[in-house]
Amino acid sequence: MHIEKINNLDKEFQEDASSVSSLKELEEIRIKYFSRSGLLSQLFDDLKNVSKEDKPVLGKSLNELRNKLSAQFDKIKVDLESNEKKTVHKIDLTLPGIPKQIGSKHILTQTLDQIKEIFKGIGFSVFEGPEIESDYNNFEALNFPEDHPARDMQDTFFLSKKFLLRTHTSPVQIRVMEKYKPPIRAIMPGKCYRNEAVSARSYCMFHQVEGLLVDANVSFGDLKGTLTAFVHQMFDEQTRLRFRPSFFPFTEPSAEVDILCVICRGEGCRVCKRTGWLEILGSGMVHPAVFENVGYDTTRYTGFAFGMGVERIAMLKYGIDDLRKFFENDVRFLSQF
Ligand code: PHE
Repeated sequence: MHIEKINNLDKEFQEDASSVSSLKELEEIRIKYFSRSGLLSQLFDDLKNVSKEDKPVLGKSLNELRNKLSAQFDKIKVDLESNEKKTVHKIDLTLPGIPKQIGSKHILTQTLDQIKEIFKGIGFSVFEGPEIESDYNNFEALNFPEDHPARDMQDTFFLSKKFLLRTHTSPVQIRVMEKYKPPIRAIMPGKCYRNEAVSARSYCMFHQVEGLLVDANVSFGDLKGTLTAFVHQMFDEQTRLRFRPSFFPFTEPSAEVDILCVICRGEGCRVCKRTGWLEILGSGMVHPAVFENVGYDTTRYTGFAFGMGVERIAMLKYGIDDLRKFFENDVRFLSQF
């Protein structure tokens, strides 16, 4: 072996190293020069055949070359790695953005918004009350006497002897009347709770919109006119209404309101249970006992009240057949509206 050989290897390496531009190419260099059967190892093998006198000089040069080349190799590797990292993080400002999924209002919120808009349009204001109510506001002031069987109409979640989760939005009537003098034109939306088994038709939580109008000379005709105007706007002008005598402790007389089935238009189908009609709300003229409880003069004022289920209206309007769908948060259901 000759010193020439060592110098030539150095030259060859310098040439290869100067053109390397990726870690992949660098790996080829590692194999060519530094692997077991690489060019450096070959030269070290050749050293065995060199004469005793030449060995120290050649051995030293070869060692120096190996150290030099591996230091060079390491530096190239570090540079290439940091370069590759930079390219990964480089931002291409010309790329189109990633579109964000835009949510939508829940179908119940949409329905409630629509109900509110209709009533605002005919002069009603919106009030809200708490979901935790006193037994007094939820029952007593609404003329449900203690131990009266009418309390069984609504399976109540009691929190204590005096407090409960409101079973309807009617207690907000009491709150509004205790705070304001007539005339009153108010709707009161909100959540209600009843201790019922969850099924396609009932849920432990649901939404109601309460309505209350109090003034001099309010008649049952005003109630009918108001609710008819509401139904015609919420559904359509062809939707007929039917007022059916009913009972609520806080209204007298009381009526439940049905609309002509939106599915079969009165022919009779599965949704209306072959009756041709669908119940949408409870209503009536405010009972004088309720006015007395809030200190209104019953010789001067009369009024009407109503309470409708928001889920029920949404189900009829959009043909939804299972109440539970509203609360499962399944995007496939929600994104349809
Ligand atoms: N609060 C009654 C219910 O939940 C509905 C209703 C409200 C009836 C107002 C009459 C007047 O069933």
